[in-house]
Amino acid sequence: MNQKKVIIDCDPGIDDSLALMLALKSKELDVIGITIVCGNAPVEMGFENAKKILKQIDRLDVPIYIGERKPMKRDYIHALDTHGEDGLGESFLPQVDGYEQEMGAVDFFASILKKEKVSVIALGPMTNLAALIKQDPGAFEQIEELVSMGGTFKSYGNCSPVAEYNYWCDPDAAALVYDTMYEKGKRIHMIGLDVTRKIVLTPTILEYICRLDKKMGDFIKKITKFYFDFHWEWEHIVGCVINDPLAVAYFIDRNMCQGFDSFVQIETQGISLGQSVVDSMSFYRKEPNAKVLTEVDPQRFFRFFLSRLLEIETEKLDLLQDM
Ligand code: BDR
Ligand code: CA
Repeated sequence: MNQKKVIIDCDPGIDDSLALMLALKSKELDVIGITIVCGNAPVEMGFENAKKILKQIDRLDVPIYIGERKPMKRDYIHALDTHGEDGLGESFLPQVDGYEQEMGAVDFFASILKKEKVSVIALGPMTNLAALIKQDPGAFEQIEELVSMGGTFKSYGNCSPVAEYNYWCDPDAAALVYDTMYEKGKRIHMIGLDVTRKIVLTPTILEYICRLDKKMGDFIKKITKFYFDFHWEWEHIVGCVINDPLAVAYFIDRNMCQGFDSFVQIETQGISLGQSVVDSMSFYRKEPNAKVLTEVDPQRFFRFFLSRLLEIETEKLDLLQDM
């Protein structure tokens, strides 16, 4: 199989962890590295969490690089209220020692992209990518495809009425990435809250996972319990929205989501800080720098997600259609 080389840039994070498992269990992908950015959790904690996840699925062979410790210009605001004090749903999994790389995330990006074209799936604030643009714009240009979980078009925000966390946490980085994509005539795939909000891991689906694979089910239960409680308290949802795995699923299967091409800018100041302003009506007459995904079939996603995580053929997941 012709595998796609990809780097996962993330801030694990509960849903980032599910996305990492999905990516590493998908044969279409050759994950050549994981880069950590400050976001949900501070980078050191994100690094520890990534190792815990890799250990769980026996993939500690994948190198993890530590990235930027704070946003480009603004103070850093983590999201441990959403992800728990250990950033992994207060699962307090045993620490995994070692595995530090000498190279930092930005140097890793620069060195790889000098040699070959690789795609990037960005699941956290885009601070590492913005630092790459500053350090080595030519290397950034070599990114084959860039999929970002972040932003929102018509759905409301999760950090303010209009802003989604990843872009709100480091709006200057997100703005620089979108502006650079525009200058270079390229398109970023924006997997925003319009689509990820529809991806709700419900207690029924989780129970189904447990019935099919107790070890995997118990593990997911352990890391999502806190997330379930958070969603009930703040959004009155029974279940939890798992944003990041959708970006991985879409990267592999482009029919997973539908949307349109548009020019997008990120607001860096004021009450709409971090908002992804989507010029869907082409007021600015500017060439699109993004593909904005607005439609998703959650059934299709969960079939995909479960079949890979549990290593089961999709045809054996018929019960999902009633959940
Ligand atoms: C995004 O922010 C984080 O909480 C999640 O990991 C996801 O990447 C959703 O707004
Ligand atoms: Ca994330």
